Parts: sequence; structure tokens; C-alpha cells
Amino acid sequence: MSKYDMEINLLSGALGAEIKGINLKDNSIKNFKKINKLLLEHKVIFFREQDITAEEHINLANCFGNIETHAYVKSRKKYPEILRIIKEANEKNQWGEGWHSDVSYNYKPTKAVILKSIKIPPIGGDTVFSNMELAWKTLDDGIKKIVKNKKAIHSSLGAAYFVKNYRSMESNGNYDEYSNEHPILRTHPETGKKILFVNWTYTKKIVGMKKKESDEILNKIFQHQERLDLTCRFKWTKNAVAIWDNRSVNHYAISDFFPGRGLGYKRIMDRIAIEGDKPN
Ligand code: SIN
Repeated sequence: MSKYDMEINLLSGALGAEIKGINLKDNSIKNFKKINKLLLEHKVIFFREQDITAEEHINLANCFGNIETHAYVKSRKKYPEILRIIKEANEKNQWGEGWHSDVSYNYKPTKAVILKSIKIPPIGGDTVFSNMELAWKTLDDGIKKIVKNKKAIHSSLGAAYFVKNYRSMESNGNYDEYSNEHPILRTHPETGKKILFVNWTYTKKIVGMKKKESDEILNKIFQHQERLDLTCRFKWTKNAVAIWDNRSVNHYAISDFFPGRGLGYKRIMDRIAIEGDKPN
């Protein structure tokens, strides 16, 4: 492979590709178009050995749209665009554990996230992604019929949820709570594809349904979304970058830090999120 050739290695049969031969420091329109095409096709793309600086990370994010800051967690002092996710060496908990789509409780949930690894444990702390376009296609027909034209309520769970159980994740002082209704079946604004837009962490109730009935249906959907055949899993190395289309994937940062194996190592990631649209 010459340095100008691109190599695409699929991570699973469901979604995800590791890309070689793209320079993330190049923020020309031509390079961005190439990256965005890969993102729309594979839904999450990974790059290794990308020693991009914080400024280059921000420049790359700016190509996708406006950068959004997290509602509850303090950003890096020098770079307010970047949220540093830190798991201390002897911490078991991992920020981002549990299936979710980032900030789906916002009126305009995140469009995409660019996550760069800074420090990675030798074992543990992989991230898993699940394809929500495939999740809709493979969902039970009876459930599809019930939820097709319905909305669901997504709730932010409050500030404590994002900082209380994580030693180095600091509150930014905002304690407001947010809740918004979004269609359960949304249409991707760029590809026109149908996406199942609910997630285990933030989606609380189907609008217009009794709580018990809503819980039953949502639990069935959550179980379906977690099916391993809809997923791919990325093992991080230092200076790797993941870009995910937050409209069409759910993800889960695995907290497999157990004594004698994953526990005892620090994990640090730099995260930049890009503003999205109101789901339709
Ligand atoms: C996140 O959920 O945004 C963080 C994912 C990770 O740290 O792997």
C-alpha cells in the first residue's frame, strides 16, 4: 500500500471499519468528503496511530459542524471543546458504560462524536457499537407496527448521573434537567435511511402509552438492540481515533476492570461532539 492508498477493513458484518491511508490532520474539503462518505457507509470508523494535537482534533470536528459542549461535565481548561474522559487506575466504573446514543435527551441530539485515545489499559475498556438501521430492519414486525408513528421521551437523568460515580469527571455546575420527545423511527438527514432511535440509558417512555405497556415494549426493543449480531467492538490502542454517526448507532464503553486483569490501569480519552438536527 502506498501512503496515498486507502485500506478499509470491516470490523464485523454489521457495521464499523478500520481505515488506513487517511490523514486526519488534513482538513481540506476533499479529505472531509472522503471521511464523511466512509462514516455514512460504515456508521463508525476507526483510525490508528493518529498523533493529532488538540487543535487538529478540533479542526477535524469543525469540518462536521458546530462543536457542542457537554451539558454537565467540565471540559478541558485550555480546550473547552474537548471533554476529557478519565477512568482512574483503581476505578471500576467507566464513563459511557451502558447502551446509549449521546445526549439523545437534547432537542437536537449529537450528530457525531470524535473520540481519541490518550492512555489505554493493556486489557479492558473496549467500546462496542450497535447498528440502529439494522436494528430497525430486523425488529419484530408486530413491534414495528406499534411504534412506527410514535414518539418517546428521552431524559437527561440529571447532573449527578454524569459525575457522581466517576472520580475524575467534574461537574460544570449545571443542575438543570432536560427531556425531549423524539420519533422512535427517525430518518437519517443525509442518507434518508430509517433508524430505530431509542436507547436503554435515556429513553424513558413511549408517548401516549400507559407506563406498563411502554416499559414492556421498550424492554423488548432494548434487548433487540443489544443483539451481538448487530454490533462491532473496537480494541483501543494509544492515539487511535473513532468517529461515530451518533444518529445511527448506539454505543457502550465496556467497564471490564476486574482485579488481576483490567483493574489497575488508567484510561483517558478526549471527546469532541458535533451538534445534530432535531430528529424527524
Ligand atoms: C462515550 O460514551 O461517549 C465514551 C465512550 C468511550 O469512552 O469508549
